[in-house]
Amino acid sequence: MTEVHKPIRVLMVCLGNICRSPTAEAALRHRVEQAGLEALIEIDSAGTSDWHQGQQPDTRSIVHAGKRRYDLSGLRARRITPEDFADFDYVLAMDAQNLKDLEAQCPEPLRHKLALYLEEGVAGYREVPDPYQGGAEDFELVLDLCETASEKLLARLRKTHFTDRADD
Ligand code: 4NP
Repeated sequence: MTEVHKPIRVLMVCLGNICRSPTAEAALRHRVEQAGLEALIEIDSAGTSDWHQGQQPDTRSIVHAGKRRYDLSGLRARRITPEDFADFDYVLAMDAQNLKDLEAQCPEPLRHKLALYLEEGVAGYREVPDPYQGGAEDFELVLDLCETASEKLLARLRKTHFTDRADD
C-alpha cells in the first residue's frame, strides 16, 4: 500500500540568492517535476544577505538557465529567516562561508538540517563557486554542478523518505 507522506522541504542557500541558490532551486524542481514528486518535495531558496531582497535572479543566471529550459524569471531574492530553520527539513549551503553563516544563526537543535549542497562531491567540487564576478563559463559551471547535484539529491531523498516510490 502506498504510504501518505508529509512533503519534504528543501531550502537552497547562497550569499545573494540571485545566482547559485535560485539555479539549484530550479534544477531540483525540474527533476522533481519530471519524477512526478512535486506534491512530496517542496523547494525554495534564500540568501544569507539581504543585498538583493525582492530582486529577480541575476540576468546572466536567467539567460544561461533558460538555455536549459529552466525558468528563473519568477523567482525573487529573500534573506533567510529564523523560521526557515524550523520550516525546512534540509538547509543546503552553496559554499563553506554560507554554511558558516547559517551555523551562526541556526538554533543548535536544528543544526543537523544544515549541510553543504555538494557535501558528497560533484566533479571534484564540494562548493558551488560564486559566479557573480565571473563570465559565461562560470554560470555554465553552476548549472552543470546543479544538474548533477539534483540527480544525486533526488535519489537520496527517495531512498531516505520514499522507499515505497523508489521505482516510479
Ligand atoms: P549568489 O552570488 O550568492 O550565488 O547569489 C552573488 C550575488 C551577489 C553578490 C555576490 C554573490 N554580491 O556581492 O552582490
